[in-house]
Amino acid sequence: MSIVLVGFMGVGKTTIGNLLSEHYDKPLVDIDTYIVETTQLPIPQIFEKYGEAYFRDLEYQALQKWIDKDVVISTGGGIIESELSKDILKGNVNTFWLKCDIEILFNRINHDHNRPNASGRSLNELKALYSKRELSYNEIAFKHIDANRPKEVVASEIIESL
Ligand code: S3P
Repeated sequence: MSIVLVGFMGVGKTTIGNLLSEHYDKPLVDIDTYIVETTQLPIPQIFEKYGEAYFRDLEYQALQKWIDKDVVISTGGGIIESELSKDILKGNVNTFWLKCDIEILFNRINHDHNRPNASGRSLNELKALYSKRELSYNEIAFKHIDANRPKEVVASEIIESL
């Protein structure tokens, strides 16, 4: 069974995923990276050319491919926008929700042009998106992890709970 990390943009899913991947000696599958490699397109271009719904479908397909492969999966923050992806995540007991204050995340993400759902958005806009998504993360994840702490501490807590 794969270990899956979910949570809002900028929370550190890939960073923590790398630590878990090293610890367990399992490959890290970063869904965003996988999509960029398979489509040969950067994420903002996928959004621009084909729309967000198409990107959500690519995420779902990638999740479906990797969920049973016994890897560490780092997801994109919006993967829970897809009901199909949510159903897969709900069925995986090793899905961890990394939680961090939106004020901290805002400064990390709102100038990042590689993140079309964050780039140029105001704090209030991102707070609204965060509140909406929190409901979904909460619905699918069995384990909630406080990610307002150093990455080693966060990774250790996950390891201890497995
Ligand atoms: C998105 C989050 C991104 C990436 C895409 C859309 C979102 O991943 O999948 O830009 O809608 O929250 P990160 O969570 O790694 O930034």
